[in-house]
Amino acid sequence: MPRGFDGRLCFGGDYNPEQWPEHVWADDVELMRRCAVNLVTVGVFAWSRLEPAPGRFTFGWLDRVLDLLHEGGIAVALATPTASPPPWFSFAHPDALPVTRDGVRLVHGSRDTYCPSAPAYRTAARRIATALAERYAGHPALALWHVHNEYGTVCHCDHAAAAFRDWLRRRYRSLGALNEAWTTTFWSQQYADWEHILPPRATQYLGNPAQLLDYRRFCSDELLACFREQRDVLHELTPDVAVTTNLALGPWVPVDPWAWAPEVDLVAIDHYPSSVEGLDAEQETAFAADLARGWAGGGAWLLMEQAPDIVHTGGRMVPKRPGQLARLSLSHVARGSVGVMNFQWRASPGGAEAFMSAMVPHAGPDSRSFREVAALGLELARIGHVDDPVAADVALVWDAHSWWALQGPGLPAPDLDYWAMSRAVHASAWRLGVTVDVVAPDAPLSAYRVVLVPALFLTSASTASMLESFVESGGHVVVWYLSGVADATVRMHRGGSPGPLAPVLGVRVERHYPLAPETTVALDPDGTGSSWSELLRLDGAEAVLRYADGDLSGEPAVTVRAGRAWYVSTSLDDATQQRLLGEVFAAADVAPAAPAAGPGIEVVRRGRRLFAINHTDHVAEVGTARLSIEPGKFVVANY
Ligand code: GAL
Repeated sequence: MPRGFDGRLCFGGDYNPEQWPEHVWADDVELMRRCAVNLVTVGVFAWSRLEPAPGRFTFGWLDRVLDLLHEGGIAVALATPTASPPPWFSFAHPDALPVTRDGVRLVHGSRDTYCPSAPAYRTAARRIATALAERYAGHPALALWHVHNEYGTVCHCDHAAAAFRDWLRRRYRSLGALNEAWTTTFWSQQYADWEHILPPRATQYLGNPAQLLDYRRFCSDELLACFREQRDVLHELTPDVAVTTNLALGPWVPVDPWAWAPEVDLVAIDHYPSSVEGLDAEQETAFAADLARGWAGGGAWLLMEQAPDIVHTGGRMVPKRPGQLARLSLSHVARGSVGVMNFQWRASPGGAEAFMSAMVPHAGPDSRSFREVAALGLELARIGHVDDPVAADVALVWDAHSWWALQGPGLPAPDLDYWAMSRAVHASAWRLGVTVDVVAPDAPLSAYRVVLVPALFLTSASTASMLESFVESGGHVVVWYLSGVADATVRMHRGGSPGPLAPVLGVRVERHYPLAPETTVALDPDGTGSSWSELLRLDGAEAVLRYADGDLSGEPAVTVRAGRAWYVSTSLDDATQQRLLGEVFAAADVAPAAPAAGPGIEVVRRGRRLFAINHTDHVAEVGTARLSIEPGKFVVANY
């Protein structure tokens, strides 16, 4: 928890006073107080203001900002500004500029212009982190360290190549083992010397999937080493201040949150839903929040960034609907976030993100969005932090490595989207009102009644045997297509998928039939599949749904073994998937968080506390005691 926040929820956002003249700062604090802001993240991109020349620090302005905030009763998550080195840095250390896979050396003029493996970058990052910790160790406003911003930078330069080779040496120990793991007999890629191994730079044709996947893993570990170096400095100089970093969610992010979570004192995520269709943003928010709680081991975590007033849908910034900011924020809090932080406090006066939404928009405080922000702040202050764990009988297995492998080259379809697949499964449970914990592939499962396994492309024998014991001891498991395809080095399982999951599921996949976009296949007795289909061989399981047209007509589409181990070989339409999960939940005795909540009513139970959010435009009656919630509103009640 941020220091001093026991029992209180955090509310605030990124605050960039360096972008404004000093006379605005006092207005800022005044306005923050009006909307019950109690925590702001300061200095995320302020490196060039804090260290305008190598080793010359200008902390005076930051002293005044922190003093002012403290006088206003506002605590500070102090950032280390290492996501954006200043121009002087790249001139002094051109070798620390990042190189793309095409060999283009990027220059400053944006942000994240550094190579994580460059010694000069690491030294400069430690120096500014140390200087900040020495300066502000005793400052009463300091409540939390916010290291860097959204670690995710990838580089392909010679520094990165050398570090990658070291990482590979530690992982494989011998070139023989690496050659085996990377299947280098294919296309004459056998390595005879460690020095010949390169990052996955641009190649003539498809790259090596195992090399690409290992590079992602290396990037995750290398960035984690960058984080650790700063964290250790901060821990040493300010032992009683928690250290975090804001994890980004997205297919581009080479960070494995399961490996990072134990390294931070508080898991923090940024979440920006990407669609305004129907209840997409609501469902995606619940999924992101459940992921974060999973990474936090079921405990407290913090929503470090969200957009206060827009949803980014591709290149279009669509305003949030009235009340949606509060509803989405409450969903995060219900699912374990100890606060609601936003990007950002005041809209930037210029620069590349001047059109991003802000708690104080360009239009100023006399605006609908500021009023919603203020109302939310006051509401959160009233609710306070709930310690009770989120109650969930269902787990969903989620794996960054499978996500990365499903972005690899040479896959049977170009649009296999792990995020969308796992989200669709989570959304079905959401619509049924059932709360889901997200767990790692090696997590203990005995606390659950049902385990959902979407597209676990890389499945190890140990995960398979844990699922097998889970089913043997009475648990129910549902596995979706593209699970059990390969091992950790993207070597295909002998006998085809679902590989080591075949015995527990009682099926084998003989052949893949990827479906063209926008096409569907009919199912018997009802429902449709899309995206993907498979020719299945029953080996102990029975068919529950069959394909009803096309080449697979009459073949099994959804199967079950022993009444508890389900396999789904296509992307089911929402209604069919919901019906299937409804059946599984009923058989496993899994009830919704509140009976009869109805579609669009999100309910999460934490001990005696019930969070109920009405995402619909009609009054909702929740539970047997008929808790009544106005359209678009929420209730937090003992129930
Ligand atoms: C976040 C990032 C912020 C800002 C924001 C804009 O992902 O951490 O610095 O760029 O997006 O939406």
